[in-house]
Amino acid sequence: MRLGIIGVGHLASALVKGVLRTGFLTAENIVLAPRGHSAQLRAQFGCTIAEDNAGLVNACDTVLLAVRPQDAVAAVSGLPWRSDQIVLSACAGVSIADLAPYVQAAQVVRIMPTIAAQFGESATLVYPALPQLAPLLAALGKSYELKSEDHFEVGSVSAAIFGWAQALIGASSDWSSDKGMDRAQARALIAQTFISAGTMVAKTDEPVSQLLDSLATPGGITEAGLKHLENTAAIEAWNGAADAALGKLEKRR
Ligand SMILES: NC(=O)c1ccc[n+]([C@@H]2O[C@H](COP(=O)([O-])OP(=O)(O)OC[C@H]3O[C@@H](n4cnc5c(N)ncnc54)[C@H](OP(=O)(O)O)[C@@H]3O)[C@@H](O)[C@H]2O)c1
Repeated sequence: MRLGIIGVGHLASALVKGVLRTGFLTAENIVLAPRGHSAQLRAQFGCTIAEDNAGLVNACDTVLLAVRPQDAVAAVSGLPWRSDQIVLSACAGVSIADLAPYVQAAQVVRIMPTIAAQFGESATLVYPALPQLAPLLAALGKSYELKSEDHFEVGSVSAAIFGWAQALIGASSDWSSDKGMDRAQARALIAQTFISAGTMVAKTDEPVSQLLDSLATPGGITEAGLKHLENTAAIEAWNGAADAALGKLEKRR
């Protein structure tokens, strides 16, 4: 695979680190658009920088589009697309139908990764899943094939949940250090607590409510905190945030 990247910002930098880390691609097989963080990635890893986006499309079989959603159509328009190419769009809320008229016969595939790809830990959505993309997605972490573009949109909210989980980790570690705990230790402890909680859900088939029942012993600390969260409608607020994020994604379509 020769991977071109149009939109070399925060996300693309993490994806480049992810694919190089596993050795799935070497730097010579990554061609970057001449903007954003490209010069840094060339200095750090030796990636190639294309003269312009047309040269990049000519040189690559797969092109990752990782510009901001409002820049997506302009970024792919007027380029020399071929029918044997894949446009891998990571642009949140930008549909296949939005891009297809501007990439000629190239095939548009949507992905929604996270910056944890740099450590091979992204939960990446893909639609439609093409077998030839499986090794690339595996280099980024675990991938999840969605059955329809509507489901992809719902799943895309997970990219925002990734950020909200970090906000919760930050709040809990600040709370612990405000009570006198060492700041770095509190941060590591709370981060690992979230990893452990996810591991329990991911590695067992038990319904989450059942897992929770076994944790929340009557009169214990988990139950006390859960009651407070219920009484203050915290879970409803969390789901309200998911509704707001989905609404924003759907408005872009
Ligand atoms: N950040 C995340 O964690 C994340 C996760 C999942 C999906 N996404 C999606 O990924 C996309 C990028 O997000 P980001 O946070 O990485 O944004 P970002 O840091 O702002 O990067 C976007 C880059 O695109 C470049 N660009 C814009 N138009 C271009 C063009 N026509 N040709 C070449 N480069 C162009 C910009 O260059 P200049 O700097 O020169 O303007 C900028 O470097 C968004 O659509 C977002 O929905 C992001």
